[in-house]
Amino acid sequence: RSNGDLAGLRVLVTAGGTREPLDPVRYIGNRSSGKQGVALATAATERGATVHLIAANVEVDLAPLLGLPRLTVTRVSSTAELATAVHTAVVESDAVIMAAAVADYRPETVAEAKIKKDSQGDRLELTLVKNPDILADIAAARAERHAGTEPQPDLTIIGFAAETETDRDRLLTLGRAKVVRKGSDYLVLNTVGWSAGFATDVNTVILLSNAGDIVGEASGGKREVADRILDLLRLKHAPQP
Ligand code: C5P
Repeated sequence: RSNGDLAGLRVLVTAGGTREPLDPVRYIGNRSSGKQGVALATAATERGATVHLIAANVEVDLAPLLGLPRLTVTRVSSTAELATAVHTAVVESDAVIMAAAVADYRPETVAEAKIKKDSQGDRLELTLVKNPDILADIAAARAERHAGTEPQPDLTIIGFAAETETDRDRLLTLGRAKVVRKGSDYLVLNTVGWSAGFATDVNTVILLSNAGDIVGEASGGKREVADRILDLLRLKHAPQP
């Protein structure tokens, strides 16, 4: 599908999973492959948008994307790098889609040299500290910009929530609390687990609005799911008749 319905829109997409270094050779990471985020960036580009993809350790080959017109790719690894890249790029964006799986915590200290087991004994304790919540920070900054004025449609913010909850009602309850807590306009809610959501080619998602309404559902290939998510931007940014 490449009907140009997102022409003129500047879309920032994050993809993949952040890695938090422990020492020069080790990290704490997650199983996000980046497939959904890369599908979003590809679909948005093909629909006419100008796209900035910030890719954190994606397992997808990005070579085919590098030739696409209107698409910029920035590679990052840690949450700190992702945060810097997002905060820089967001000022030039009309919409941000935070598909990346961001580490909630990082090691408090990063060892300068490889941690050796002969200096540690049988137990090794790690202290983790909380990372900034990039999505919530962007939404809070937008709220501050618009304090005391009518909400401006200058930036649409879409977050993701990957939960291991499989019960639909409980999943929706978690999602509704999360979209309000984060302050995003929408939340893409899905169930992930050992064999679902992450690293697969298919996805099943519920699209929630900030009001807690289900505004869409999608199931199928990640490209198809990407197109349903991007429809949210078409609705919001469509020129008024
Ligand atoms: O709280 P949780 O990790 O489930 O939130 C998921 C959403 O928040 C995703 O859109 C993710 O990209 C974003 N996030 C973030 N910064 C964090 C943690 C999550 O932007 N530190």
